[in-house]
Amino acid sequence: MIFLVLFLVLLGIFLKISDSSLNLWFWSRVSRRTEADHYRGKVVWIVGASSGIGEDIALRLSRFSSLLILSARRTELLETVAKKCRDANSSCQVKILPLDMVDFPNLERKTREADEIFGRKVDIVVLNAGRSQRAEWTDIDPSVDAECFQINAIGPTQVARTILKNRGLHPTGDKLDNLQFIVISSVAGLLPAILSPSYAAAKAALMQYFRLLALEMGEKGVKVSIICPSHVYAPNMLKSAFTSSPGTEHGEVISAPRAAQMAPERAAELISLAAVNEIYECVIASTPSVLASIYFFANFPGVFARIINIIGAQRLRKIRSAHE
Ligand SMILES: *[C@@H]1O[C@H](CO)[C@@H](O)[C@H](O)[C@H]1NC(C)=O
Repeated sequence: MIFLVLFLVLLGIFLKISDSSLNLWFWSRVSRRTEADHYRGKVVWIVGASSGIGEDIALRLSRFSSLLILSARRTELLETVAKKCRDANSSCQVKILPLDMVDFPNLERKTREADEIFGRKVDIVVLNAGRSQRAEWTDIDPSVDAECFQINAIGPTQVARTILKNRGLHPTGDKLDNLQFIVISSVAGLLPAILSPSYAAAKAALMQYFRLLALEMGEKGVKVSIICPSHVYAPNMLKSAFTSSPGTEHGEVISAPRAAQMAPERAAELISLAAVNEIYECVIASTPSVLASIYFFANFPGVFARIINIIGAQRLRKIRSAHE
């Protein structure tokens, strides 16, 4: 009994002071390896670098003498982010490589270009591209499900697969290579997130692909860190979000950070630290209730669902819309 009380008290304190899951919180404090050690001289390819967390990761890494490649579909936005990196650090080496992740026939050429742009191969790939959703479960058109999976799960997976193929890396082969994938998922990939059914399902699929990659290719030198951010402030996060019907966007612009949202600079720092410490999978969230929900759901999914039924889905919709 006394141990249970002690455990609950410690758990409460941890949830209050931490903005990440226990593994990242612990290892980022204990380990002596720094971001400067990890990124110095490495070629880092950020896919989905034109806005949101991707842009902040680029800005963070501009401090650590890495060679940055920025990718997304829109060249002008990439130019802007590249300029911000150079403004932040005039000795930052940054190049842009426009890329449509779901243009599969061109992926081989694009990934080879990334491996050549600095005259040496990519060491670290940040897979951040994705598109959120606001829709009711019952209303979704199947073409929206398909497109949402394409962008959030299959695109990043295919980018990784193409790089491995280009380099002749295979689970049954004897080639080794040092390659790290930093995969940005979402807490929606771990918790059933109301109002984002296709997105949550796609992020869960993304995570399962990369969990498996880490297991299958770990002994070949391929490392994977999956990071699940909760609410991070990004003004346009919902603007281009999927709805339930094809060809329409949610359109909402969030003009100022809301209380539950983490500052994007802090999210970028935590993501970077997760990669430095080679954390297999972690959660970053500034609200204790999100961290608590994830730990609780992972252990007691049935009890969790019953509690949600008592709170009521309608009330949950309102809470979710007010927080992000
Ligand atoms: C700028 O980058 C260089 C090397 O690329 C690094 O040594 C320096 O610490 C960076 N400066 C800042 C202010 O981030």
